[in-house]
Amino acid sequence: MGTAKLTYDGKEYELPVVEGSEGEIAIDVRKLRAQTGLITLDSGYGSTGSCTSAITFINGEEGILRYRGYPIEEIAQNAKFSEVCYLLIYGERANKEELATFTDELTRHTLLHEDMKKFFEGYHPNSHPMAIMASMMSSMATYYPDSDADVDSNIIRLLAKAKTIAAFAYKKSIGQPFIYPQNDLSYPANFLRMMFAVPSEPYTVDPIIEQALNLLLILHADHEQNCSASTMRMVGSSEANLYASTSAAVCALWGPRHGGANQKVIEMLENILADGGDYRDFLNKVKNKEDGVRLMGFGHRVYKNFDPRAQLLKKAADRILDQMGVDDPLLNLAKEMEQAALSEPYFVERNLYPNVDFYSGIIYRAMGIPTEMFTVMFVLGRLPGWIAHWKEMREQPGVRIHRPRQVYTGANLRRWNDDK
Ligand code: ACO
Repeated sequence: MGTAKLTYDGKEYELPVVEGSEGEIAIDVRKLRAQTGLITLDSGYGSTGSCTSAITFINGEEGILRYRGYPIEEIAQNAKFSEVCYLLIYGERANKEELATFTDELTRHTLLHEDMKKFFEGYHPNSHPMAIMASMMSSMATYYPDSDADVDSNIIRLLAKAKTIAAFAYKKSIGQPFIYPQNDLSYPANFLRMMFAVPSEPYTVDPIIEQALNLLLILHADHEQNCSASTMRMVGSSEANLYASTSAAVCALWGPRHGGANQKVIEMLENILADGGDYRDFLNKVKNKEDGVRLMGFGHRVYKNFDPRAQLLKKAADRILDQMGVDDPLLNLAKEMEQAALSEPYFVERNLYPNVDFYSGIIYRAMGIPTEMFTVMFVLGRLPGWIAHWKEMREQPGVRIHRPRQVYTGANLRRWNDDK
């Protein structure tokens, strides 16, 4: 693929150039420091490839997203979430038998060890469910300490039990008894039942809501080297176990610049509505960067045209709310704000478009999922992606511990005894 030339201090260095399968080109700087004494500086990693990966392809300029080569639009229309989990983690679509075995395993491992239920007693009643998710993920390692010994079984355990933990976290927050998994249901239906059923009443999963959740989980399933997936790889690179790495990824997702944005979008829309619904004032604040206020659910590091997931979710929000007979003023407000923002030079010049989280919260609301659970829903969707990255990294030969360097800007040498 040729080389790139670097000239510094009168000397010329040749650096290898590598090309990915979709024509992405990168200068390989792995030997840069050894050869030149220089390092690269890229805080935020905007121009840094942290790895090679065969899981997800994004072309942010053209709004393309593919899992293992399959376009997100085709997957969203045709697949079940469990099929997507298999595809992401194992690289190929499961055949009939493989899918039957995988789905069966995913179903049979949904129960939590009875003693793990006791952990929930200790959390504060007002705990954010993301805090519970993160600590329960690492607590799994206390029950399955040798996760490196049988990786496939632990992958299944993690995927299967995460939704039980998520539903229990919600039940804990509203003081209702836990509902145990029912294993003749699909992944999304089983979760919905554990969330919304109560022991004294029959509960049937609404197929519209089940399908909506299937779509949301699929659209969140992977997004290459985002903050939480990179955290999963970073922690995993020290050979920390699967559960510890996942707990770290959950924490990374929690922040409002990442997965926490879905909660913040709804809070933003609710506040605007409570103030009379005039979003112009709010957009002006955003444009003037008053108090650092941002239009939540807008902007993306990679997408500079449109986020295909947001487009799918905007259409889905219309369809699902219509099917459910829900008329949510937040949906109309969101659409109006999107249109207004997209005609404002501030957003146009900076290529700021709605991201996956601009419309997801509106669908979750219609499904009856409380705002504080939105980011937990993101965890359930993103888990297969995190697992796929962790597994890919652990299987690649010669992966080194992730350990960036820095440009030190602090004090020069000073002597302790010289200071008064
Ligand atoms: N509202 C207002 N201005 C914004 C927004 C926004 N949502 N996003 C970016 N900008 C502005 C920045 O102020 C900056 O302006 P400047 O050039 O005048 O300084 C410019 O656009 C570039 O922004 P950066 O912060 O450098 O972009 P970066 O790629 O680092 O950040 C991020 C991406 C974190 C997603 C950002 O767009 C953001 O904060 N969005 C709102 C939160 C959000 O929706 N997060 C979810 C992302 S999708 C996901 O994780 C699932």
